[in-house]
Amino acid sequence: MTASILFVCLGNICRSPLAEAALQREVQAAGLDVAIESAGTGDWHIGHAPDKRAQAVAGKHGVEIGAFRARQVVREDFSRFTHIVALDAQNLADLQVLCPADATAALSLLLDYVPGRMGQSVTDPYYGDARDFDLAWSEVMAGAKGLLETLTTR
Ligand code: 4NP
Repeated sequence: MTASILFVCLGNICRSPLAEAALQREVQAAGLDVAIESAGTGDWHIGHAPDKRAQAVAGKHGVEIGAFRARQVVREDFSRFTHIVALDAQNLADLQVLCPADATAALSLLLDYVPGRMGQSVTDPYYGDARDFDLAWSEVMAGAKGLLETLTTR
């Protein structure tokens, strides 16, 4: 398998780092080698570590993400990754606008990989509390498992 995955949300400090962490954990557990990164469509948090609440929920599930640093999506991402996976419908729409004509990456929505949740968005926990981060973790983990299954059964 030669997949490489870029997860994209708005700020790259909550949902997409959690998706990166979740897929990293699953890929490691399966003994696979998949390049995984995350980025934001927005530029407000470039260079910042993930939100403390995101760090806490990932840590609770065994993944340390304190060293992650937010970055913005760049044009090269569309040819560097095999899959660019948006965390919500608005970010998918923004990626479709940014997508250059010579892009090779397949664009998709994370919850499309979860049976019964096609077209749905991972709820943004940024303005919420720890419970919202728990919910975001369970959603990104379900998405990561479904995505990995798709990658390994193709
Ligand atoms: P994320 O969450 O897109 O999941 O990283 C957000 C982070 C920051 C903001 C919004 C959402 N913000 O408005 O700064």
